[in-house]
Amino acid sequence: MSSLLGEHGYRDKVVDMIKENLVFLREFLLEFKTTGACFPTSRWAAQALITPLTEPNRPPRNILELGPGTGSVTLPMLREVRDGDKLTICEINPRFMKALKEKLNGDPHYRRNRERVFFFEGAAQDLPRDTTYDIIVCALPFVNFDLETVKAIFDRLREISTPDTLMTYYEYIGMRTFNGALAPADRAERIQKVNDYLKQSGSINYLARERVWLNLLPINIYTVKPTAA
Ligand SMILES: C[S@@+](CC[C@H](N)C(=O)[O-])C[C@H]1O[C@@H](n2cnc3c(N)ncnc32)[C@H](O)[C@@H]1O
Repeated sequence: MSSLLGEHGYRDKVVDMIKENLVFLREFLLEFKTTGACFPTSRWAAQALITPLTEPNRPPRNILELGPGTGSVTLPMLREVRDGDKLTICEINPRFMKALKEKLNGDPHYRRNRERVFFFEGAAQDLPRDTTYDIIVCALPFVNFDLETVKAIFDRLREISTPDTLMTYYEYIGMRTFNGALAPADRAERIQKVNDYLKQSGSINYLARERVWLNLLPINIYTVKPTAA
């Protein structure tokens, strides 16, 4: 009997995973520019992205998640939310937000933290300026955006950061080489401008880089201070 239940539990998990991947793939096709990936981030990448939350004995933190999609980073994050923390989840795509809220309702860590979790359905660059955050976990697909959008996002992030705010974000390894060699000239040029802004303008203060190979496409996870160097 118990092995049957176990089997059903496993089957339910696989069905949930397939459903989640289908939601993601659908948004990738409908909203390529903002979705930016065809599958959710792996659990290893998610764990690396949430490193600032896992620090032992850390004080209560005001935390912001940008671009939760179907929640592959949100769920591990909620396991790390502690008394006194606040978590704001910002998502531009209403269909992702709806799917996320449905998923969170079934999650024990969300239910434990429900009063500490807030939702902002809109663009990161439109987040209210009246709060500052200590930790920002960002999954926005910067290489899909034009330079003005990336600048608008970082301008707003600087306004809602303190000099101690830590932000993590990721980038696919090899994307720059791939685009330089194979992308149409206008796309390659746009991406080059975005990369120059992110990496060379000195607008962002880089602290660390971690490589995660166990993801559909391997990624670099960067830890930065959104405030200028
Ligand atoms: C690459 S997906 C990441 C999804 C999920 N966090 C993961 O890692 O699997 C990018 C997410 O950012 C959201 N997004 C894109 N542009 C945004 C913006 N300007 N403000 C807020 N969310 C945005 C997309 O709708 C999508 O959910």
